[in-house]
Formats: sequence, structure tokens, C-alpha cells
Amino acid sequence: MEQTRGRFTGPPLTPRTAVIWSVLQAELDRRGAEELTVLDVGGGTGGFAVPLAHAGHRVTVVDASPDALAALTRRAAEAGVGARVRAVQGDGDALAGLVEPASVDLVLCHAVLEVVDDPSPVVASLAAALRPGGAASVLVAGRAAAVLGRAMNGHLTAAATLAAGPSGSVGPRDTLRRRYDADAAAALLRDAGLAVEEIHGVRVLADLLPAAVADGQPAALLDLERALAAQPPYRDLAAQLHLFARRPVAPSDRHVRA
Ligand SMILES: C[S@@+](CC[C@H](N)C(=O)[O-])C[C@H]1O[C@@H](n2cnc3c(N)ncnc32)[C@H](O)[C@@H]1O
Repeated sequence: MEQTRGRFTGPPLTPRTAVIWSVLQAELDRRGAEELTVLDVGGGTGGFAVPLAHAGHRVTVVDASPDALAALTRRAAEAGVGARVRAVQGDGDALAGLVEPASVDLVLCHAVLEVVDDPSPVVASLAAALRPGGAASVLVAGRAAAVLGRAMNGHLTAAATLAAGPSGSVGPRDTLRRRYDADAAAALLRDAGLAVEEIHGVRVLADLLPAAVADGQPAALLDLERALAAQPPYRDLAAQLHLFARRPVAPSDRHVRA
């Protein structure tokens, strides 16, 4: 991969990643040639961390899984960015002992809030890690897509539970503990003091299409996903919701680099 600070030069874009990268790229462009301090909470094997390191940024991945962190470390080394990726085993709701508070320019928390015991302390923890003016990229599972998916597969009771229950989970046998609609996800971030700037749907159509269509027309599918991502009602039917938020700069923060 060619390296140009701030410019995404990572793996080929897919319906899972294209909209998120376009939002992140806008933030990287806004920050110009700065080397950013990035924190990826529950970053797993580094699907975002390694390209961000390759774009010239310093990335700390905090993850509960030693296996995921070992794979991340290998992947970063193979990509030649091992020195810019720090792998830390830890819990997303206890970042204060792992990452200096108010030190991070960009925090990622993708596909994590739906699996943790309690999402509120995790969001509070990542908000506290951000410096004033720093940004958060949060990806959560969408509730509406799961309701439609269960119903279309004939699981009407599960669809009804997902739609009406408080958590957006089918119960203990569900792989996810909760799912979100856009308002609930935005409220979660606002409650932690973050200002939500953008909400996009990720995989509005990709999971609904026959494989022959998705595989046969990948460029057209990406264009359509991008076109629909920000538009309700399509956005709200996406398999995942991506929220981009920022820690506001308070008057008392003016002395801190934003
Ligand atoms: C579904 S994977 C998402 C990985 C990556 N963010 C992505 O989008 O591909 C969830 C990750 O969160 C990690 N995780 C789960 N609970 C966590 C917690 N309480 N603190 C930190 N990481 C956690 C898991 O180990 C796993 O790597």
C-alpha cells in the first residue's frame, strides 16, 4: 500500500467499509497532515487500525481478546506498520488506566456496543479518552434490519420480540445483546457528552440482495449504498448504523489542542 499521511490507501472498499471510510477520510482530510492519535476500542484484528497506521497515524487497539490482538500484531507487522500500532488487552469500560484521558484525536468503537455487558460506561470511557474537538466513529447493529431479516426468514416470533422488546435482542441465545435504532444510538452518545454530527446506514441493501447481484455488480452496489446511506428511511433499515460524533470544545478547554 502506498503511504500518504491522512489518505486512505487500505484494502478494497466493500459495502461493510465504504461509507465508514468516506466519513473517516473527511475527518482525516480536515486534520490535514497531522499525525493523529487514534484509539480503536474492540478493534479486533485491525481491519481499521492497520490502514489508519498505514496512513501515518498512531493507533492503539484496546481489545478484550488476546487472540484478536495477536492477529492484529501479526497483521500490522506484515503491513510494515508494527511500530505505529499498539495492542493492549483491556476492557472498553476501563480505558482510563490504559490510555491517557483527553489524549485521543479519533476513537473508533465498531461492532462492540452490542456485545458488551453495559454500553454506557464504554461510551463514557471513550468520550473521556477524546481530547476536546476529537471525534468518535461508532458502529452499532441496526434493529430494523434484524426485524426484517428474521421475519423474511419466517421467524415471526423472533421478529416481534426484536421489534417490541427493550433491547433489540431475541434473548440469551441471540449473538447480540442489543440492537439500535438511530435515535437510541444517538442518545447513548449524547448522554456521554458527545455531539452527534452524522449518522449513516451501513449495508442498507448488501445483505438483502441475491449473491449473484451483489457479486455481479459490486461497483453499482457500492454506489447505491453510498447514495442511500444518509437518507431515511433507507438509512434506518441498514444492518449497521454508523455514528460520527465529536467531543465539544468547552471554553475551559481552549488551552488544550483541539
Ligand atoms: C464483532 S468484533 C468487532 C471487531 C472490529 N471492531 C470490527 O469492526 O471488525 C467485537 C470485538 O470487541 C471485543 N470486545 C468485546 N467486548 C469487549 C470489551 N468489553 N472491551 C474491549 N473489547 C471487547 C471482542 O474481543 C472483539 O474483538
